[in-house]
Amino acid sequence: MHPDGERVLLEEEEIRKRVRELGEQIAGDYAGKELLAVGILKGAMIFLADLVRFISVPVFFDFMAVSSYGKSTGPSGAVRILKDLERDIEGCHVLVVEDIVDTGLTLSYLVGNLQSRRPASLKVCTLLDKPARRRVDVVVDYRGFVVPDRFVVGYGLDYNECYRNLPYVMVLRPAVYKGGNLNV
Ligand code: PRP
Repeated sequence: MHPDGERVLLEEEEIRKRVRELGEQIAGDYAGKELLAVGILKGAMIFLADLVRFISVPVFFDFMAVSSYGKSTGPSGAVRILKDLERDIEGCHVLVVEDIVDTGLTLSYLVGNLQSRRPASLKVCTLLDKPARRRVDVVVDYRGFVVPDRFVVGYGLDYNECYRNLPYVMVLRPAVYKGGNLNV
């Protein structure tokens, strides 16, 4: 394990198995349809790349990047679009792909925004769900794992843009985000 980790929360093999299950479940649910997977940058990039390889119906991808204001200081819920979709989604079956749902503020904004573009359907898939931190109710249609209220990194998730490339998910040692040095 990376020296900044306290413990591995999800092993590479465990993630792979669950991602396969999710992909197969999604493929079954969308049988006979085409799917537009919308990855939310940057965290969802690794999950989306692995997930779509287990979805056997036709899948197109697009991406959005958003930033939430004042996340650490008590979020107002304001979200800004940094990168929007490249295509019109009216009439499409859209699946939002996230790495983690935490307060739910990002997802709540995204769902409202995308819903207003009149897709044929809109569902949400997240690898990780941290319900202990939820501030707004959001519907999650596909969830990989429920995680405890700890700082988790790896498999796309970062702290200060580090650790995204780890193939597993680990709990970050508190000393790292409370002023310690990063061993990157
Ligand atoms: C993370 C994650 C979600 C959001 C979840 O993104 O990818 O988009 O936070 O948090 P919330 O439920 O409290 O809104 P982040 O802003 O860290 O950007 P990143 O994906 O580039 O790491």
